Amino acid sequence: MIRKATRKDIKNLAEIDIECNDPVDKILGLKKSHIPRSIRERFDNGLEKFFIYYDKEGYKGYITIIEYFPAYASSEIRWLAVKEKYQKQGIGSKLMDFAEKYATKMKKKKIYLYTHISRLKTAVRFYNKIGYKEINTFKKYYSNGDTALLLGKTI
Ligand SMILES: CC(C)(COP(=O)(O)OP(=O)(O)OC[C@H]1O[C@@H](n2cnc3c(N)ncnc32)[C@H](O)[C@@H]1OP(=O)(O)O)[C@@H](O)C(=O)NCCC(=O)NCCS
Repeated sequence: MIRKATRKDIKNLAEIDIECNDPVDKILGLKKSHIPRSIRERFDNGLEKFFIYYDKEGYKGYITIIEYFPAYASSEIRWLAVKEKYQKQGIGSKLMDFAEKYATKMKKKKIYLYTHISRLKTAVRFYNKIGYKEINTFKKYYSNGDTALLLGKTI
């Protein structure tokens, strides 16, 4: 099941980020201990809408969407994570499907997302499978100067 996350979920969201074991955290030198504060800041900023996936075993993944992306009738997926032990079970796809339906309700026609170049064989494969195509590359997108790929899909 997927529901809108509330401020009380910050701990659950942080746990998902910590347990998704994203290798890019290490590449960018981000410490796991900073995750809860960073989520709280993003949550309070209000730009991203947070949706959390759970079942009877607990919280397993989450997605955030920014309704406005600077292109015609477009939204942005800002972040998606599934705890490592629950990956490859279809949860990421369900969260993406939920976000696409949410964007459709907002009368959006496209979804874009940026991802780190090192994810070519991991998350990019995942996004390609569900219809996202590479649009562009952005040099020096990340704090350490690394490149991002911009992917997009017409929904
Ligand atoms: C990317 C991520 C959200 C995918 O979630 P998931 O729940 O494992 O995805 P799904 O189970 O819905 O996978 C859907 C398809 O993509 C494929 N896929 C998922 N992860 C993959 C990977 N790391 N490498 C290659 N293919 C992958 C699955 O095999 C599946 O293919 P199938 O339909 O042929 O079985 C998850 O791996 C994750 O949290 N990664 C760390 C954080 C991250 O990179 N987030 C994205 C930042 S832009």
